[in-house]
Amino acid sequence: MRTPIVAGNWKMNLTHQGATDLARGIAEGCPENGVTAIVAPVALHIPAVAEVLAASPVLLASQNMHWAESGACTGELAGPMLREFSVRYVILGHSERRQFFGETDEGVNRKAQAALAQGMHPIICLGESLQEREADRTQAKVEFQLRAAFAGLTADEAQRTIVAYEPIWAIGTGKTASPQQAQDVHALLRSVLEDRFDRQTAQAIPILYGGSVKPANFAELLAGEDIDGGLVGGASLKVESFLELTRIALGS
Ligand code: 13P
Repeated sequence: MRTPIVAGNWKMNLTHQGATDLARGIAEGCPENGVTAIVAPVALHIPAVAEVLAASPVLLASQNMHWAESGACTGELAGPMLREFSVRYVILGHSERRQFFGETDEGVNRKAQAALAQGMHPIICLGESLQEREADRTQAKVEFQLRAAFAGLTADEAQRTIVAYEPIWAIGTGKTASPQQAQDVHALLRSVLEDRFDRQTAQAIPILYGGSVKPANFAELLAGEDIDGGLVGGASLKVESFLELTRIALGS
């Protein structure tokens, strides 16, 4: 049984005060067991949010990470720096980073390997554009991204990794993939993982859905056999809606 996951990607939002207030509210109301709650503030807020979350069950993620441990990489963040602030997860290959910041499949793979070497869990994002969906290229696209991201990983490393299926056309648009559309892609991703590794490994890897997840649609998405949680943008920015998502996940 995979524990359901609610991961909040705060993207480039909130002030220092707003981020610590949100973290405090989530920490106070989050269920202790039965759901894994993760938040990803902007890097600048990680130390303050880490302090707020220290005695809570809520875990911290970074929104990105460089593959090198240190060096001449102006503007980047290294894994050991994140580890110093108890960051356990790292979102990699988000479509916004692929679209606007030149993130490639090869880079995602290098970062995933580096995160795993640091003892962190990569959250690997993938998904098709509207054009690709309409051209019936969804399966080919997500399979390609998945195989590229997991290149060179052992089954043990794969089991410490999370996949997030985020159809680009559903991000921040209010358009959610239907539960059936999402489940179909999740089932495909799991079958590719089984082909690449083995059944036990494929069954162990959580596959999250992302794209306009909110309390009103989360339960029906989670009903999909291969949908293990959500990677949530907008609805993760309010204490009540994030907590509602954790309660829905707990009841799933
Ligand atoms: P929204 O939930 O705002 O659509 O964002 C989804 C997302 O990109 C999470 O990483």
